[in-house]
Amino acid sequence: MKDTRFALAFLFFSLLSCVLAPAVHLDAQVIARDPGPRGGKVGAGQPVRGLTPGQQRFFNNALSRFLEVDSVGGNLPGETGKGLGPGFNGNQCASCHAQPATGGSSPSRTAFPFLGPNPQIAVANLDGASNNIPFFISEDGPVREARFKYFPNPGGVLSGQRDGGVHDLFTIQGRVDATNTPGISGHLQTCQLLQPDFEKMGQLGNLSYRIPTPLFGGGLIENIPDATIERNMVSASAAKLALGIAGHPNRNPNDGTITRFGWKAQNKSLQLFAAEAYSVEMGVSNEVFPSERGYPPMPPPTSCLFNATPEDGTNMEQTGTDPTAVPSDIVQFGNYMRYLDQPTPACEGDRCPPSVQSGHRLFIGVGCALCHIQSMRTTASYYGEALSNKDANLYSDLLVHHMGPKLADDIIQGSAGPDEFRSAPLWGIGQRVFFLHDGRTQDLVEAIAQHASPGSEANGVMTRFNHLTENEKQDILNFLRSL
Ligand code: HEC
Ligand code: HEC
Repeated sequence: MKDTRFALAFLFFSLLSCVLAPAVHLDAQVIARDPGPRGGKVGAGQPVRGLTPGQQRFFNNALSRFLEVDSVGGNLPGETGKGLGPGFNGNQCASCHAQPATGGSSPSRTAFPFLGPNPQIAVANLDGASNNIPFFISEDGPVREARFKYFPNPGGVLSGQRDGGVHDLFTIQGRVDATNTPGISGHLQTCQLLQPDFEKMGQLGNLSYRIPTPLFGGGLIENIPDATIERNMVSASAAKLALGIAGHPNRNPNDGTITRFGWKAQNKSLQLFAAEAYSVEMGVSNEVFPSERGYPPMPPPTSCLFNATPEDGTNMEQTGTDPTAVPSDIVQFGNYMRYLDQPTPACEGDRCPPSVQSGHRLFIGVGCALCHIQSMRTTASYYGEALSNKDANLYSDLLVHHMGPKLADDIIQGSAGPDEFRSAPLWGIGQRVFFLHDGRTQDLVEAIAQHASPGSEANGVMTRFNHLTENEKQDILNFLRSL
């Protein structure tokens, strides 16, 4: 791969330039390009520093649950988690949240060979299942989930009624643990459930995709006060007005507080997201989503129901002395993500190579940082000193913005409309592979270019970005790859 060699060579030079300033600059006629994922030490995946021994014990147990592989009954070798299906997109949290370390985003075989190909290929036909691989899933592409924009009528014509929900790629039909297996009534049964017709939905333009967001620093994001987000929203108002930047929080309709997780900032807490992911991505019913899921509005067929519900709950019969074994999986998933530290950048401040320092200044100067706000401070946390009064260097305002038709996914979630997205947190982006909500590109240059689109709030900033010299653009790309 020429790209990889270029990336490695670039990495070598940028590392060298850390030691031997001045940094390498481009010739005037060279076009700025993405140096590619930063090699070297992986700057993510560790717990936050300063955990108490008790917190560390809970984190370790939680990590092991995040790594657990699920099957229908939880009794296949190496697949000891219970409750997979009827529909699912994956069989392990860590299979989708993998790169550059456990807890991250979609793995990529091309950039990180040891992580292997897209895990959705293997899981489709694991244990006797015979699912088709949808056309938008490939070995070297990102892990994806698919949403329908509108409900299809039985004939396959779109109804005009908004759907917006996730339609699982795969079903447990054909799996050994869903064939001639005792169901909830105790009788042997065989699951019969076809995959949605993704081919047809694609032809109708009814699909939108999302890739996994990284979970690093989740506990810090959770503990940023609403007031801080609102204060940022009204700050630098003259500059924002001049550039056409607005943005507003997404809110939980019931308690009115600001929601912040997910590509549209649609979810309130790590706990809620964990419970929803267990139900939606893996099909495991739990304390927050206690019933089994079909393909809404259809309930799951009874032939595919094998376990009492919920399939995950508090382990009340736990007799050992280990307290970390008592909570349900979803509670422990929450604790895992809560204590997962924010990514560590390659360098900080004036210890960075001159090009990175310049890129940082330009990132602020052209206005990227008006949406991708560098840092917000957490408040005092019940979960201890490690999460209290810390700077979360997330490069996001946690607000949603109109991004125009190029990025629009035509999905509404809470008060986030069809073309609105959360300013994607850019921490850790230096080691990421797939970009934008649907993973449409692996090239930072393209990820930035997609911000410009009729009606996008980023247009003013993009005009200024496009007026930079190629050297200056290169500095911004180098800065992003240092995060
Ligand atoms: C099949 C792949 C897949 C699996 C398996 C999966 N996720 Fe995710 N995860 C995603 C995708 C895709 C998103 C983005 C969803 C969105 O924004 O609508 C996501 C987003 C998240 C987020 C939001 C983080 C943020 O800041 O935006 C959390 C939290 C999360 N997942 C937790 C989990 C947990 C816990 C598990 C295991 C129970 C899990 N996920 C399993 C694909 C997956
Ligand atoms: C109006 C607010 C806004 C401005 C200004 C803005 N961005 Fe973004 N940025 C976003 C949003 C929203 C997304 C997520 C879009 C999506 O996934 O569809 C995003 C995504 C990104 C991504 C991809 C992140 C990922 O996780 O895939 C990069 C890289 C990025 N922005 C860099 C920049 C740079 C560099 C600038 C300045 C030239 C900039 N942005 C200006 C709002 C903004």
